[in-house]
Amino acid sequence: MSIVFLNGEYLPIEEAKVSVLDRGFLFGDGVYEVIPCYGGHLFRMPQHFVRLQRSLDAIRLHSPLSNDDIAEALMTLVNKNPQHGDNQALYLQITRGPDQNGRNHGFPETINPTFYAHTKALPPYNYEEARRGKSAITLPDIRRKDCYIKAISLLPNILLHQQAHDAGSEEAILLRDGYVTEATTSNVFIVKDEHIYTPPASPYILGGITRDLVIELANNYQIPLSEQPIDETMLRTADHLWITSCSRHIHPIVQLDNKQVGNGTAGILWETMIKLFDDYIATERSDQDE
Ligand code: PDD
Repeated sequence: MSIVFLNGEYLPIEEAKVSVLDRGFLFGDGVYEVIPCYGGHLFRMPQHFVRLQRSLDAIRLHSPLSNDDIAEALMTLVNKNPQHGDNQALYLQITRGPDQNGRNHGFPETINPTFYAHTKALPPYNYEEARRGKSAITLPDIRRKDCYIKAISLLPNILLHQQAHDAGSEEAILLRDGYVTEATTSNVFIVKDEHIYTPPASPYILGGITRDLVIELANNYQIPLSEQPIDETMLRTADHLWITSCSRHIHPIVQLDNKQVGNGTAGILWETMIKLFDDYIATERSDQDE
């Protein structure tokens, strides 16, 4: 049975209850994070805290827990859930909490935010499957203009994601005004003539922790990469296309809108980047052990 963390308590998941007056339930008024844990080490925790704070600031919410307390709670959850194995994906969400005066759009003057976290197994990265690639479709980015907030109100994302799944695809790559923003649960990279491109950071995309690491690794190893707007023509004439997220790492997309991307392979740059990515995870783990 899974143990979860709710407002300072570790509970069996069946016993964790939140009020129907919680503004997370009534309005989707809250933010979240998803943090991988590899072999008992939280992945890029400082970067996750920066993004969490950015989201909290954007919705004018104070975390009820300090960063140290959050890290401790997440590690305790990992240890209390050994059935999920060596690698886990931790989910945390902070909502504005229950408003005892009922459902009111304006923020109540006093309210206690709700802090919830759970963990689940993170399956090992499957190189062979990744190398074969997946398919994606393009869809218009119908989301709001503040996609940099990791908000729990994800209705457009889940509708677009489901549309991709209904079409037999892994992801929907989103286009806003003719330019790629990101995908419904991941960031987007293309490769053209051995050069990597990804849309620049902006309010229209989530600052993916995986995205930022790919950029950092490319810079460190002198692999040409530009953060630059990608228009629809660039997308459709790319040699390779990748999506990135904490659970997928770097995943090649070899079919877009039922057409082959480039020569339909993951490509040599993907082989290089995924190796650097893996080495980074191993080094981060051993650094934390010292
Ligand atoms: N989603 N863009 C969007 C819209 C996302 O939802 C995600 C991740 C990313 C990639 O971020 P990261 O590299 O930090 O995982 C980009 C998570 C996994 C989720 O919603 O479950």
